[in-house]
Amino acid sequence: MGTMTRVAILTASDSGARGDRADASGDVIATRCIEAGHTLVRRAILGDDRASLAAALAGWCDEGIADVIITTGGTGLTARDVTPEATREIGEREVPGIPIALALGGLRKTPFAALSRGAAVTRGVTLVVNLPGSPGAVAEGMDVLLPLLDHVAELLRGPVNHDGRQM
Ligand code: MTE
Repeated sequence: MGTMTRVAILTASDSGARGDRADASGDVIATRCIEAGHTLVRRAILGDDRASLAAALAGWCDEGIADVIITTGGTGLTARDVTPEATREIGEREVPGIPIALALGGLRKTPFAALSRGAAVTRGVTLVVNLPGSPGAVAEGMDVLLPLLDHVAELLRGPVNHDGRQM
């Protein structure tokens, strides 16, 4: 069981947002989080549009609904791949070790893992992590991310006093 880390999922996909394609990658994130004992608090699919992605990410962070927002899609090299830019735009602090860990994990399976430009940032009390768009890449990414999530939530919530309130 996890310690009820609150996870939100944002899928960046033009075809998914049009309803032309099922969100298989978002499903993989959801299933893996629930299996690990985490709580899914929100899920959305948006087109590959930098401004809308940035607005959704900033909004969810500022509402304080999630400890971690995991995105899938839009991390590659095509002109429509803008998720890392949207993420960095709203981020206050970069967490460079997470993309390194994701790349190392992915490179054990495929050299194409080098082509994901995913970022990881914090904004307020929320961590935002970008995973690639394919269900396989997401499954590999979750193997790396899941062991980190409870500690991330604990760190971002900060020190708690004896009343259980944030200091
Ligand atoms: N990472 C892992 N772990 N496994 C993968 O199969 N695919 C790569 C890469 N990262 C892959 C991966 C490929 S082929 C691409 S193009 C980039 O992620 C970007 O994917 P995206 O544009 O769907 O985000």
